[in-house]
Amino acid sequence: MRGLICQLRFSQSLIFINFTSLISKETIQQIQNRIDIIDIIGGFVKLKKRGTNYLGNCPFHNEKTPSFTVSPSKEIFKCFGCGKSGNSINFLMEHEKYSYVEALRWLAAKYNVEIEETATSPEFKALQLTSDSLYIINNFARDFFANALLHTEEGTDIALSYLKERGFNQETIQKFQLGYNPSARDEFTQAAIASQYSTELLLKTGLVVNRDEKFADNYRGRIIFPIHNMSGKIQGFGARIIKSNDRAPKYINTPENEIYVKSKILYGSYFARTAIDKADECLLVEGYTDVISLHQAGIENVVASGGTSLTPDQLRLIKKYTKNLTIIYDGDGAGIKAALRGLDLALEEGLEVKLVLIPDKEDPDSYVNKIGAKAFTEFVKKEKKDFILFQLEISLQEAGNDTAKKSAVVNQIADTISRIHKTEDFTKRQDYVKRVAEILKIEETGLNALVNKIIRDKLTREEARAINIETPPVEEMPPQDELTLLLNKDEMQEQALVKSLLDFGMKEWDEEQKVADFIFSQFDDLELQGMIDNQQLVHLILTYRQWYEDGNEPSAKDFLYHENTEVSATATKLMVDSESELSQNWKKFYEGHISTREERYKEEVTSTLNYLQLRKIKRLIAENQMEFEKTTDPEQQMICMQTHQLLKKMEAEVTRQMGTVIYK
Ligand code: UTP
Ligand code: MN
Repeated sequence: MRGLICQLRFSQSLIFINFTSLISKETIQQIQNRIDIIDIIGGFVKLKKRGTNYLGNCPFHNEKTPSFTVSPSKEIFKCFGCGKSGNSINFLMEHEKYSYVEALRWLAAKYNVEIEETATSPEFKALQLTSDSLYIINNFARDFFANALLHTEEGTDIALSYLKERGFNQETIQKFQLGYNPSARDEFTQAAIASQYSTELLLKTGLVVNRDEKFADNYRGRIIFPIHNMSGKIQGFGARIIKSNDRAPKYINTPENEIYVKSKILYGSYFARTAIDKADECLLVEGYTDVISLHQAGIENVVASGGTSLTPDQLRLIKKYTKNLTIIYDGDGAGIKAALRGLDLALEEGLEVKLVLIPDKEDPDSYVNKIGAKAFTEFVKKEKKDFILFQLEISLQEAGNDTAKKSAVVNQIADTISRIHKTEDFTKRQDYVKRVAEILKIEETGLNALVNKIIRDKLTREEARAINIETPPVEEMPPQDELTLLLNKDEMQEQALVKSLLDFGMKEWDEEQKVADFIFSQFDDLELQGMIDNQQLVHLILTYRQWYEDGNEPSAKDFLYHENTEVSATATKLMVDSESELSQNWKKFYEGHISTREERYKEEVTSTLNYLQLRKIKRLIAENQMEFEKTTDPEQQMICMQTHQLLKKMEAEVTRQMGTVIYK
């Protein structure tokens, strides 16, 4: 056993060495010295000072009352809603989906720390080199194309005049760094090769193609729209044909490469980020020119999706800045259908999605040019439609009088509503049920039941999946005072156990025992102390047991009117607390009927017991960990490690049980 653990630790430290060896220890040290967690997290989350800590809305789950806390002195963050916690690097890794090394690089760039690399893995070096090179080539290309647009005869005659005709002014053209790729076969290619860029990389950027065994410009004779990433670096280009042509596509875009990943592109985000933050709203349009025209009109909180349905990555990008997404598309159907496809996901993410349709075959670009900035803004404000109700309207129109189609619509809309299933959006969901029921002229309770069923089915599937997620390592346990705060929420579970006992104790558990027998078999007096913190509840449980052992059949009423005022007060409080507050379990929460609690009492008992047991194990793990850190005796340390493994095993077992028990 001893040997095994040593080996385990040894190999872990080996992994660690491998992992960090890309960046030197000194560099990491320098970065760590400069880290200012408020500055870092404050760049992504709006933080407000509260005492010594800072508070904001958690970026990792959807919430309306802030429970995301950052402690500058401890250099950690912790969300009391979802439980996520860690240091600055963990935050970047989680929030930006960076690897450890990427997070370090990001910090190094932020704090101007020069990165000293030690033995870099060849693959990583190659990847890094390629990305860096692609950015460099794209920069070169942007300058080349801008020059061609503004300072060559062909450029000004053909491209610049076209852009001016469309209403783009000089300032706008320069801000968006628009350009022109000359119509000659390989003017850009020649210039790039003359500047020593490798053809292999040039092909990768999509700027150059191999045509008939010769390298040639891919975007010949096209207007160039550089696409900037969030920090303003150029990831790729969109290239628009000037005179429409049946044989050639209107736009050619950069192919997927190390730095251009289509699903993550939101055109204009670099120019829009501060405006989105300020307006607390993101306008989404389809095209490059829509973004640019709106900008020119002074409407800057706007990005473009590129005309396809929104991807999860794009939604995540938007959600970093705001929860209010307003989609402005032309009313022609195709674009709208594409947009709608991505939106169920937006609902799940807790985004507020609104829709504005531009009339008369116009798009935002042409429309803002036609009616002016002020009228456009007013139009958007007035025409903003709720996305869910809009979807319903369209489907209803399509269904007409066909009853089969109509019931399909009901199912579909119930599914959409069910996606607003986060606890905090509960009222919003109820509101939709009401409004949709009205529109469909169906019973509100019926629709509610349908929505709840969908949520229940989904949760069951999610729970099964969640079991596979590793519990965070003990080292990340929050400090003791925060832990206490967190555990206060657990009071509900403690109450739930006692309430189950009072309500269902005398019901059958299985052929041999009652619910009360089963509950009492799960702990002895000492263990009960470790499981339930609230001493009044402990007292109530012990009273119940004593009574039961004396041959009585206790019921909730017996406790309500118990001679001991403390017992009766506790029991009364339990009974008065509302059902929904008591049932932590979401499934029960959404059923909303008391009767189903009745039907599912076994599930309630098991899940509460499991929860309390798991909490107890986690506490023991934390205690053991502290013990381990305090002691210097190797023998004692070894015992702690073995205890740790044992507890981890127990934890896994309980977690597994929580996921696999199925009730009918
Ligand atoms: P649109 O056809 O609406 O073009 O496509 P647009 O942006 O309004 O351009 P103008 O005003 O006619 O000049 C919307 C978006 O769809 C993508 C582009 O991102 C475009 O901006 N698209 C369109 C392509 O990628 N390829 C195409 O061939 C067409
Ligand atoms: Mn257009």
